[in-house]
Amino acid sequence: MIVAIDGPAASGKGTLARRLADHFGLRHLDTGLTYRAVAAALLAQGLPLGDEAVAIEIARNLDLAQMDKSVLSAHEIGEAASRIAVLGGLREELVRLQRSFGDLPPGAVLDGRDIGTVVCPDATVKLFVTASPEARARRRTDEMLSKGQEANYASVLEDLKRRDERDSKRTVAPMKQADDAVLLDTTEMDIETAFQAAVDIISRAKDT
Ligand code: DC
Repeated sequence: MIVAIDGPAASGKGTLARRLADHFGLRHLDTGLTYRAVAAALLAQGLPLGDEAVAIEIARNLDLAQMDKSVLSAHEIGEAASRIAVLGGLREELVRLQRSFGDLPPGAVLDGRDIGTVVCPDATVKLFVTASPEARARRRTDEMLSKGQEANYASVLEDLKRRDERDSKRTVAPMKQADDAVLLDTTEMDIETAFQAAVDIISRAKDT
C-alpha cells in the first residue's frame, strides 16, 4: 500500500504523513529531506548549487537512515533544496531512491511535491494537502516562535510565496495535484480535523 501526499511548503503534509503512517502501520519518507540532504552537503563543501554531477554523486551515496530532520530543517537548506530541485538528472536519482523505499513491505506514506504525479503514479491513494498562503505563513511563524526562533510573519509569507512559485513553475516535475488525487484544503482545519479527514479518505480508498 502506498499513500502519496503532495502539497506546498508548510501545508501540514509532513505532520499528516507521519501520523497517517503510524495509524496505518506503514513506513514514512519525507522526500523533501532527500533534496535537503543533497543541498546541505553541497553547502557544507562550498560547492555551487548548480553542479549537477556532484549533486548526483551525493544523491547516489545518500543514506536515508542518516538524514537528520532537525539539522536539515534550517531555512537556508530549504531554500537551497528548492533551487537544486530543478535539476532533472538529480531528480531521477532521488526518485529511484524514493521508489525503492516505497517498494519495501508493508508499504509507505511518501510526502513531497511530485509523489502522485511522478514518484508513485500508481499509489493506492493520493492526497494533495494545501492551505492558503496566509494560513501556512501563520502556522510556520507560530511554530518558529514556539521553538524560540525569530520569526516575522510578513517575511515568512514572502518566502513561502517565492518557494511556491519556484516549485510549481519549474519544468521538471513541478508541484501539481495529480488528476486522481483528493484535495484536502486545511485552511479552516486544525491538525486533528485534517488527520480525521485524511484517515477517512484513505480508509475508503483502501477498501475499494
Ligand atoms: O518539503 P520541503 O520543504 O522539505 O522540500 C524542500 C524542497 O525540496 C522544496 O522546496 C522542493 C523540493 N522537493 C521537490 O522538488 N520534490 C519533492 N518530492 C520534495 C521536495
